[in-house]
Amino acid sequence: MTDQYAVIGNPIGHTKSPLIHGLFAEATQQDMSYMAIEGPLEPQDAFAATVRAFIAAGGKGMNVTAPFKLKAFAMADERSERAELAGAANALSFRDGRIIAENFDGVGLLRDIEVNLNLPMAGKRVLVLGAGGAVRGALLPFIAAQPAELVIANRDVRKVKALVAEVAAQRPLIGCSYGDLDAMGSFDLVINATSASLTGELPPVPPSVFVPTGAAYELAYGKRLTPFLRLARNAGVQGIADGVGMLVEQAAEAFAWWRGVRPQTRAVIDRLTVPLD
Ligand code: ATR
Repeated sequence: MTDQYAVIGNPIGHTKSPLIHGLFAEATQQDMSYMAIEGPLEPQDAFAATVRAFIAAGGKGMNVTAPFKLKAFAMADERSERAELAGAANALSFRDGRIIAENFDGVGLLRDIEVNLNLPMAGKRVLVLGAGGAVRGALLPFIAAQPAELVIANRDVRKVKALVAEVAAQRPLIGCSYGDLDAMGSFDLVINATSASLTGELPPVPPSVFVPTGAAYELAYGKRLTPFLRLARNAGVQGIADGVGMLVEQAAEAFAWWRGVRPQTRAVIDRLTVPLD
């Protein structure tokens, strides 16, 4: 029987996951199907029931998107270390009656930056804006990439300090406010991991963090030149990118985890890329 996979979220109409996994399956000749499921928001336990029904019908794995990443994490029997730190799952695998939770958002982002954009983080000064779920997922892979300095700025300073304290043993990690950035000089790479771009807003980041030889990365994708990318461009930054590569790379990680074969990503990224301007 054809192995079944799905992405679950709400809303789910915008998802690119079936297209991405369909292209991966075709390229790697995997006998699998991949559908989109609009998960129920209520009652409280309806999400878990939907996942269990999918498993009962022969489901082998799921990608999970907003707003279900925490619920997917909570219902798992096993969790990877990066899913633990994120407190969230973006991929589930169903094996031998057990639910295993993973979080590939951070490794997907890192791979896009280091491999596709050719910006190795080792020895670099890296600034991350935001301290929400997306940043929690990225933290361990980023630390493992050994930047010279990893600074995380957030409006809510207590939140970023608490996050940094959770991985306190792992230096060099600094949590701060946006105001603190004025005195910190410029960074080789600035990543906007806040949700500000979704509402067309700009995180209060000073232009002094940018340097023309550096790069700026926007986690949101398909939103063209967001206020953050515009600020970076106006500061002379040459290398600007949005999150389309991250989207495809996290999908490739999940695909490899489920199927044991790693798909090529370049052609899929090119197909989904929306020009920035
Ligand atoms: P996600 O899962 O996308 O990371 P989240 O967990 O809700 O979403 O986190 C949203 C992040 O965007 C937070 O870091 C939030 O900052 P606060 O913790 O200070 O609220 C940040 N954010 C949202 N809107 C913002 C804005 N207009 N300017 C700056 N930061 C913003």
